[in-house]
Amino acid sequence: MNKKRNNSWRQAAGPPEGQECVLILDFGSQYTQLIARAVRECGVYSEIVANDLSARALAARRPAALILSGGPASVTAPGSPTMDPAVFRLGVPVLGICYGMQLMAKLLGGRVRAAPRREYGHAALQVLRKADLLRGLADRIAVWMSHGDEVTQVPKRFHIIARTAASPAAAMADARRRLYGVQFHPEVAHTPRGKRILSNFLFRIAGCRGRWTARSFVETTVAQLRETIGTDRVLCGASGGVDSTVLAALLHRAIGDQLECVFIDNGLLRKNEAANVRRAFREDLGIRLHAVNASAEFLRRLRGVAGPERKRRIIGSAFVRVFERAARRLGTPRFLAQGTLYPDVIESRSPRGGPSATIKTHHNVGGLPPNLKFELVEPLRYLFKDEVRRVGCELGLPKSMIWRHPFPGPGLAVRIIGDVNRRKLHILREADAIFLEELHRAGLYRKVWQALTVLLPVKAVGVMGDERTYANVIALRAVTSRDGMTADWARLPQPVMAAIANRIINEVQGVNRVVYDVSSKPPSTIEWE
Ligand code: XMP
Repeated sequence: MNKKRNNSWRQAAGPPEGQECVLILDFGSQYTQLIARAVRECGVYSEIVANDLSARALAARRPAALILSGGPASVTAPGSPTMDPAVFRLGVPVLGICYGMQLMAKLLGGRVRAAPRREYGHAALQVLRKADLLRGLADRIAVWMSHGDEVTQVPKRFHIIARTAASPAAAMADARRRLYGVQFHPEVAHTPRGKRILSNFLFRIAGCRGRWTARSFVETTVAQLRETIGTDRVLCGASGGVDSTVLAALLHRAIGDQLECVFIDNGLLRKNEAANVRRAFREDLGIRLHAVNASAEFLRRLRGVAGPERKRRIIGSAFVRVFERAARRLGTPRFLAQGTLYPDVIESRSPRGGPSATIKTHHNVGGLPPNLKFELVEPLRYLFKDEVRRVGCELGLPKSMIWRHPFPGPGLAVRIIGDVNRRKLHILREADAIFLEELHRAGLYRKVWQALTVLLPVKAVGVMGDERTYANVIALRAVTSRDGMTADWARLPQPVMAAIANRIINEVQGVNRVVYDVSSKPPSTIEWE
C-alpha cells in the first residue's frame, strides 16, 4: 500500500514512552540514518531530530545522550546550520561527529578553519588516550574521513585524544562535562572499530542500559495500540509484503478481531501470489482477511495504456476506489493503519529535501486521498526495515514472509514494457516464477536484494527443433542493495543463470530469448519502467 508522508519536522516528541533514547541532531549528513541505525544496533533507541531544536525542547525528551551528525556545510561559512549552545550545559553527554565536532568546537570557544587539504577516505588514526571514548582500541586504527574543515584549537578544558597525519585534532574530549568530538565517521563500515567507539559513548560515558529490542518494541507498542484504539476497529491494507504483514500481525496481537484486513488482487501480482497471501493470513497468522478480486477492473482501466507514469496513476486511483468501496462495506472503521517506516518519515522532512526524496515521489502516486475520514495508526513509523523484520520474527511470522523481496505497488504492470494484457501477464508470471524458484534452489534468494523479470516489447528470432521462431524476450534483473536507493547488478553464478534461461525458454511458451541486465543504479533504476 502506498505510504503517506506527513508530520511536522519540528516535532520532537516520539515514541516509545519511557524508553531510553538518544537524540541525533541532523546537520544534513548522508550518514545521519546510519548513526541512528548503529545506535539502535547497540540496543539503544535513537531518533533523528532537527538541528535547531532548543535545549529546553531537547531536555524535555530526557535523552540519555545527544549525537551531532555530520553535514555538508562548513561551520566557517555564514548561515551554516547551528544549534542552541545551551545544549552543552544540559549535563547530557554529547558526541559530535565531523561537522558536529567542528560546531561543538566553534560554539565552545575553540577554533575551526578550512583545512589546507580536504581529507577524504581511509586514514590511520593514532589513539593518544585510550580512556573512555577510545577505550579498548589499538594504538592505530583505520577510520573514514570526509571533511574540508578542521579544528585547529580545541575549546578550553578539552583534550586532544587522537590524531591523523592530516588532522592534529582528530578526536577531542572534555570528560568532566562528557563532551566528545570525532572528526572521522564511526558510523560507517569503513571505520571497523566504529561500533566499539559508539558503544563506549553509549554505555561507558552515557550509562545507557541498551534494552531496545524487538521484544520490548512489541510489548510497548501493543500496549500503546490498545490504549489508542480502545474498542474501535482498524482497517489495514495488506499487500503480502513485509511491512504490511508485520503491521497486520502487530495490530492483530494488540486488538485481535477488531482488525479488518483488506487485500486487493489487482491482477498484476506474481504467480499464485493472491492465493499465497490469503492462505498465509488465514492459516499461518490466523488473521481474518477480506480479499477483493479487482483484476478485471484494473486490467480494463489499463487497456491500451503504455506510458509508465500513466499506468502508475491509473493503478493508484483504481486502488483508492476499490479500497474505499471495501472500507464502506466494512462500515468504515475509525482507524486506518499504514506501514510508514522511519526512512519515509525522515526523507519527507530532511533539511536536505534530498535527492532521495525526489526520486521516490513517483512511488507515492495515488496514495490514499486526504478526504478519507480515518484516523491514522502508524506503529512502524520509527523503525528501519531491518527492525521491521526483527519485529516480524518476534511475532512469529514465517521466514518466507520476512525475507521476501520488495515488490512494487503497480506490480507486473511496470515490468511489461508497453501496454498490459492477460497474455503478457501470463508469460511474465511464468518466467518470474521460474527465476525465483531457481534462486531459492541455488540458495541465492536472500543474497540478492530484489530479483525480477521484464517482458520486453521486441520479438527475436530463434530456432526450436527444426522450426524458426519469432517470439518474446525476457530480461532478468537481480540486484544487491542496502535500501534500494542505490543498487548493483548481482553477479549470479553462470551455471545458475544458464539453468534459469534454459528453463524459461523451454517451459514458457512464447519466449525464445533471455537476457541479463548488467546496469547499476544510478544511472539506471531497478525497475525498467
Ligand atoms: P527504482 O526502479 O526506482 O526502484 O530503482 C526502487 C525500489 O522501489 C520499487 N518501486 C516501486 N514501489 N511503487 C512501489 O510501491 C512504485 O511505483 C515503484 N516503482 C519502483 C522497486 O521495485 C524497487 O524496490
